[in-house]
Amino acid sequence: MIVCHCKALSDNDVRSHASQGARTVREVGARCGAGRVCGGCRPAIAEILTERTPGTGQASASQGIVLAASK
Ligand code: FES
Repeated sequence: MIVCHCKALSDNDVRSHASQGARTVREVGARCGAGRVCGGCRPAIAEILTERTPGTGQASASQGIVLAASK
């Protein structure tokens, strides 16, 4: 699913950047430019990064935000 339409970044791309060390929206943006054009994808990127943080209990909420952003 495309998360950043300005840079054609998918949720899997975000997860890939996270697995390579990106921990914040800014760090993902530094790697690929996502979130640096219109900024509309920043909440969705942040929520995907939250999925990767065990124990936050926010995985369900993050999926809702990502789906809402894609409509
Ligand atoms: S949708 Fe990601 S910067 Fe515009």
